[in-house]
Amino acid sequence: MLKGKKILLGISGSIAAYKSATLVRLLVKAGAEVRVIMTPSSKNFITPLTLSTLSKNPVLSEIAEKDEWSNHVMLGRWADIMLIAPLSCNTLSKMAVGACDNLLMAVYLSATCPVAVAPAMDEDMWLHPSTKKNIATLEQYGNRVIPVDNGELASGLFGPGRMAEPENIISWLNNFFQLSQSLSGKKVLITAGPTYEPIDPVRFIGNHSTGKMGIALAESFRNRGAAVTLILGPSAHVPPTGIAVHHVQTAAQMMEEVNKVFNDTDIAVLSAAVADYKPENVAEQKIKKTSDELTLGLVKTDDILASLGKRKSGSQILVGFALETENEVGYAKQKLEKKNADFIVMNSIRDANAGFGYDTNKITIFHREGKQYDFETKSKKQVAEDIVTTIMQHS
Ligand code: CTP
Repeated sequence: MLKGKKILLGISGSIAAYKSATLVRLLVKAGAEVRVIMTPSSKNFITPLTLSTLSKNPVLSEIAEKDEWSNHVMLGRWADIMLIAPLSCNTLSKMAVGACDNLLMAVYLSATCPVAVAPAMDEDMWLHPSTKKNIATLEQYGNRVIPVDNGELASGLFGPGRMAEPENIISWLNNFFQLSQSLSGKKVLITAGPTYEPIDPVRFIGNHSTGKMGIALAESFRNRGAAVTLILGPSAHVPPTGIAVHHVQTAAQMMEEVNKVFNDTDIAVLSAAVADYKPENVAEQKIKKTSDELTLGLVKTDDILASLGKRKSGSQILVGFALETENEVGYAKQKLEKKNADFIVMNSIRDANAGFGYDTNKITIFHREGKQYDFETKSKKQVAEDIVTTIMQHS
């Protein structure tokens, strides 16, 4: 899997940098092309000479060296993956805020390739809330985090924080490249978030959807190499890189954007909580509080899922969601049939920690041919993985 792959290895200042020599050797042995970038402080732990000898390429460290400028933009475009191993606590915090004070950071910030990090630090640093927050921020940017090992640390303490062993990083990279090809060439369309239906210039009808589930789905499809278009209603969450995002407000706008891309789509997953009704008339000016009662006339919005169900071709896979509060299974199966979907992902507001706003969800997937898949409560990222895996099993 690593033969011919272009790996840009960033090394930051951590005692685990001594393992970089083994990592570079294993990468080169597996047939990868390796370019190394070091932060200034990482040179306290391993020499550029060792790494340039093993990688068979000059090691880069400064933005400008001997009156020559290192083209950081091209490095991030050249690579198939940028791997920062070890990732020190300091470089982690810089990545989280986008600081750019050395070549490694300049390359990271301009990299268009996927980025993976292998953190290495002492247990207390690893468990500090700021580290957790920074790691979550990196994940939110779409960077992949290679889990740390438990074991003896530089401080002599035992616990989590050790950088993954070079052999395990190699396995991780093999899995990464394998996974990232599994849906390569496929085009995926996802709707997510709520829609806001205007009442007047300052008010709207909306719902509590946050878009988290759909964003996790978009990321999961992207990680498998699919070209993903995400049509996102108003959401406070920023989708990670590598996804084409179309922002919309209303059900009608969502429908319009969906119509633009659906014909050229292999898999469509409609996870958005689309408003079923919208105000019949939108007041041009703010409605004033002149009477004791106000009646709003509402009309149905177009059902995007049902309309796609009517026009989809035999090879297109259509997936809908059903968020219910009662008779969950009955309603989910009804939606599967009525909207001519291939799958319906059901979740219930009655389940603890599931539905709008939570980081977790509990789903059951129904397939058109009658199969039912039940899952435990999991993080939305893991739920997204389950949904994608189930779809792939049937395609
Ligand atoms: N949906 C859609 N367009 C709409 C309404 C819903 O595409 N105007 C999609 C949702 O994205 C979801 C599925 O239809 O994939 C089911 O949505 P849900 O709100 O659960 O069901 P409704 O069809 O709106 O029916 P009800 O509100 O009666 O449960």
